Amino acid sequence: MDELCIVQISDTHVCPPGQLLKNKFDSNHALERAINQLNIEEYKIDCLLLSGDMVERGTQEEYSHLKQILKRLNQNIPVLFCLGNHDDMESFFQVFPNYFPDLLKESSAVILSCSDKESGLNYCIDFHVAKLIVLDSSIKETGWGEVSKSTLDWLEKILSDSATDTNILALHHPPVPSLSQVMDTIALKNPEDLEDLLLSYRNVRLIVCGHVHRTIFSSFAGIQVAFCPSVVFQYPIYMTGDRKTPTNEQPGFHVHKYVKEIGWSTHLRLIA
Ligand SMILES: [Fe+2]
Repeated sequence: MDELCIVQISDTHVCPPGQLLKNKFDSNHALERAINQLNIEEYKIDCLLLSGDMVERGTQEEYSHLKQILKRLNQNIPVLFCLGNHDDMESFFQVFPNYFPDLLKESSAVILSCSDKESGLNYCIDFHVAKLIVLDSSIKETGWGEVSKSTLDWLEKILSDSATDTNILALHHPPVPSLSQVMDTIALKNPEDLEDLLLSYRNVRLIVCGHVHRTIFSSFAGIQVAFCPSVVFQYPIYMTGDRKTPTNEQPGFHVHKYVKEIGWSTHLRLIA
């Protein structure tokens, strides 16, 4: 395998059946629309990553509905999960006890490794051309995020063992400011710890995140960073004060493609 294609869908905020997000947005239907689009894409997708805020309140009922909606997805596409500030690890594990898809487990093309559950949902999938490293930056009952000491220790082991320098790191909270005052008050608290580690090993080429409900491209520790839009609603470029007012911009998702000769590129796919 010389190529890799990871589709990232973010901030789905799935609600119980029949309920609207913030009494306004049909987030369940928004995810269904994204899946309908993915099912007719004409390129090979190696996995779909849901990068946090998968559900709105972190209840088992919501995760069960998420599971139900995901059944609409082409069953050849493995789904991977990353926790965000709206997620709840206990409820998630109740509904998704086998969170590594069987498709990946059965494949000899990938190697899975994960940290102990105490550190959160941290894992690494070695696709050989690149590793996908997923970090859990969620902290129970807070909006802001943190990469814990045990997660950093585990990450160091993964980075130091890596034979490839083309790795991709995913976490819900962006490690760089979005310049939106409102969202930056619930940002990642300890980006400097992550930066030190990434600069020590220099084998991550792309960082992907969500949380801000907006497409932004930036850089961190010399690495390109892609903030994925929400499939439900977007926040404006600048938000000051404490008001979070969504815009009417089109939702979308990201397609991260690795090609040996080029490296990583990120495509924004708007949802019609
Ligand atoms: Fe969100």
